[in-house]
Formats: sequence, C-alpha cells, structure tokens
Amino acid sequence: MDTPETESRWWHGATLYQIYVRSWQDTNDDGYGDLNGVTAHLDYLSWLGVDGVWLSPTMPSPDEDWGYDVSDYMGVHPELGTLADLDRLIAEAGQRDMRVLLDLVPNHTSSAHPWFVEAVSDPGSPHREFYVWADPAPDGGPPNNWLAATGAPAWTLDEASGQYYLHNFLPSQPDLNWWNPAVHQAFDDILRFWFDRGVAGFRIDVAHGLYKDAQLRDDPPAPQGELVRGRFGLAQVYSANRPESHGVFRDWRKIAESYPVPRVLLGETWVGDLDALAAFHGQGDELQLTFNFPFIFSPFTAEALSAVVAESLDKLPAGECAVWTASNHDISRFPTRWGGGDERRARLGLLVLATLPGTLVLYYGDELGMTDVDVPHELVRDRMRAEAGARESRDRARTPMRWDPSPTGGFTGDQVQPWLPYGDPASGSVAEMQAEPSSILRLCRDLLGLRRREFAGQLASYAQRPAPRGVWAYETGGLLVAANFSDGPATLDAPPGPVLLSTGEGALDGQVLQPWAGVIARA
Ligand code: GLC
Ligand code: CA
Repeated sequence: MDTPETESRWWHGATLYQIYVRSWQDTNDDGYGDLNGVTAHLDYLSWLGVDGVWLSPTMPSPDEDWGYDVSDYMGVHPELGTLADLDRLIAEAGQRDMRVLLDLVPNHTSSAHPWFVEAVSDPGSPHREFYVWADPAPDGGPPNNWLAATGAPAWTLDEASGQYYLHNFLPSQPDLNWWNPAVHQAFDDILRFWFDRGVAGFRIDVAHGLYKDAQLRDDPPAPQGELVRGRFGLAQVYSANRPESHGVFRDWRKIAESYPVPRVLLGETWVGDLDALAAFHGQGDELQLTFNFPFIFSPFTAEALSAVVAESLDKLPAGECAVWTASNHDISRFPTRWGGGDERRARLGLLVLATLPGTLVLYYGDELGMTDVDVPHELVRDRMRAEAGARESRDRARTPMRWDPSPTGGFTGDQVQPWLPYGDPASGSVAEMQAEPSSILRLCRDLLGLRRREFAGQLASYAQRPAPRGVWAYETGGLLVAANFSDGPATLDAPPGPVLLSTGEGALDGQVLQPWAGVIARA
C-alpha cells in the first residue's frame, strides 16, 4: 500500500513536544509524574497544536540518571506505569493525530541490566563482550585518559577480573561495545519491538557516542573555545564521535522506513560543528532528524542566530529536515538562558523557533515561558551534575509543570511531596493563560496553528532579507519574518506586507519594530 505523501515524511514542518514524564502530571499521588498523567493531558497538547510527543525515558531503571540507565529495553518503569498504560497512551494520541516517540539509550545500559550483571559475574559469558573492557595501564591505573561526564576517569576497575570497564557517564552506566555484532542484533530487535507497538520513532540518546576507538587511544586536548564537544579539557575524538557509528544509523533508518508510516530517528547529536552535524544525515540515509547544539548554545542575537541557521540549512543534504529547539532536560530553559526572564524575549524566541523551516521541538513549559527554578542543594535529585561539582544541577529545568494557580500547580495532591520543588505560582499556569488572550501560551498556540497551515509536510525555503542592525529578517515559504533582537526600536527598510501574527500588541508601528518584538507577515 502506498503511503500518502503527507504521511511519508510526516515530521517535515511538524511540531514535537518533549515531555519530562516525571514532572508533567502525577495521577497516583506518589510525587512523580506518570504515563497516565501524559494521557490525561493529550487534549491540552491537541489544543496547543502539537503533532507528536517525545517522552523522556520510560523504561525500567534504577534511576541513578533518571531512566538514562536502562535495565530492561522492552519494558515500562513501574513507577511510570505499565506496558498497557503506554499502549493506551499511544492509541489515545493516535485518535488525536498525535504520534509518540520514546527515548532510546543505546550508548550504555544500567549496571543493573542483566547483560552487565552477567558480564561481571561470568567473564566467560557472551555478555562480557557487550561492554568495553580493558586491562589496566602498566602503573595499574585506568587504560587511558578518557573522562566521564562527571570529570572523573571514564573507567572503573572490576576487582574480580582485574579489568576496567568503560563508562562515559556514571560508573553505574557501563558503555556498550558496538564493535560486537550481537549488540547490533539486540538493538535491531528493540527497535522493531517498539515500532511494532505503534511507537512513531525514537530520540536517540548520545547518538554521537556508540563506537569508541578500537585502539582506545588517548583523547587529545580540546581546542580553545570549543563550546560543545570538549569535556573537561579533552576533545572526545576517540572516546566518542567515531565514524563507524554511521553504519548503525544506516541500518536503523532502513528498519524505520520499512514501516508503512515511516518511523523517525531524532539524534541527540551533541557535536560542535555543523559539518559533523550534517554528517549524521549521511546521504539522506541515516538519522532523519538531529538536534542542533550550535544553535541551542548560540548567543541570543540576530547576527549569531541568523549565521548558525544559514550555515545549518546550507550544510544539510538535500531533502533532509532541520530541527529547531531551544530547551531540554539537560540545559537551562531558553526563557532564562536566552531571555533572562524577560517575557518579551521568550515570546521572540518562540516566534523565531516556530517560523524556521524544519521540525520544531518544544520542551514542556516553553509555551508558558517557564523559566529555570532554583533547586536548593538539599533537594537536588540529579547525581550527574552533583558529582561533577557543578554549581547548578539539571533539576532547575525539570521542575513540575504548572497546570493551575494552586500552590501545587495541579501537578499532584496537596499533601504530596513532589519529587522536585514547584516554581513560583506567580509565574502563571496553563489554566490562567488559556483564559488570557494576550498570554504567551495563546501566542504559542497561534504560532503552532500558523505553522501547521503554512508548513505541514513541507520543507519550506529560507532566505535572509536585508534588515537594520540587531534585526533578523527572513523569508520562509510564503512568510516574511522580522525579529528585533535589541533593546531599542528598529526601523525596517520597508513596511512588511499584511501582518499575520506578532509577539504582542503594538509590536510594529508603521515601519518601527519595538524592542524584542517580532512580526510575521505575508511575503
Ligand atoms: C544524554 C541525556 C542526559 C543523560 C546522558 C546520559 O545527554 O540527555 O540526560 O544524563 O545522556 O545518558
Ligand atoms: Ca505518579
């Protein structure tokens, strides 16, 4: 059966929405959001205009890294629900024309995964070769200089066998050995298991990791100013970012596209240069979507953002789709990082994100302009950053969603201790903002509606237009966008055509664009 054109590349021009499940809605009063909580708010997502959700890890895990340490790739974490709950969520989302992506963690497992348990208890077992083992250096220390995400050595000694195992993250997250074909087979089966259940795709954790250098050579020092790829002064050129990983993605894309409605692979491609990013698309035969960290970490200026967007689009292979996102569960939320808590800047960020050609990925709360929440040291639940001695934990961007104006935000029961503290009720909630026509939430909904009408199923064109200093103007599809990234009013070269949408009332006065204001006009 032929797949209709609109289904065959359904992510083109689509809006995806990342739900950090534990912080979205608790339905059984244990303080943790759960899958039934996601199902309970599908109507909200449908109202907002979302085409698909990516759920943060849902698989069983000891939660040393909140699900990014998987102990069973074919199950559901009991704290989040059951497989039946997930099936129901997928079915209910489908009834609303929304798709569900899961988070897949192929770089490492939990040390509690039966594969690793066996690898340690029986070094002669086939599962030993599922992981990366090496003899000590001549001085008895770690085999090489590789560092984990905590800054500690990426190797831990297994006393019984006298060998070290590799972990690019916590010691309880042993890295898999992708040189072993049995690991490929295991993950091919995992992909099919979920695709067969109706899962629309995966966000692929640490997609730049997978293979490690076969000779385990030392990582060299990172170049000065290396923003994204450096790790505690080392460039991850041997401990990650190996070319062999591309073969895995070619295989997975074949699996993904063997389904009548193609499944989508969205990589956490944490690389610093846009050539490396584009390479994850191969010849249009690897990952269909890749997170763009140079864009995410760009300064919030017209010059910097327009440059990274132009270069990103230029380097993508023909027919491939860019991804625009600004927040996630690992970094500061964009209304804080880009916006400094100024709602005008958050609105401008949303307007631009929603009008760039490609796939938009929002993080829960982006639509409310939700900012980072200070999580006091004693309430921090993120071990990774705590062990790295970081000043701020990732928890600041993982606090409960605010559904209503009550102190709990409607996240859980009044008497329940939420797993992370609530943000300030004065920062607003879904219920309040739904009722207020000029709210940032209503702006976001209007933007997603416009986006769907203009871009659904398409890769729109993009061309930058002349604009005064501090203003970014571009034409995309049939739209002209002008965005003022400065504290002062800016006079456009010419009045834009009829304005379809703007960041707020009075954004444009004749040819004058107010500070931190943006407009979308008919080109
Ligand atoms: C990714 C995840 C992050 C996790 C790490 C290890 O970067 O987004 O949350 O800690 O991988 O799995
Ligand atoms: Ca719960």
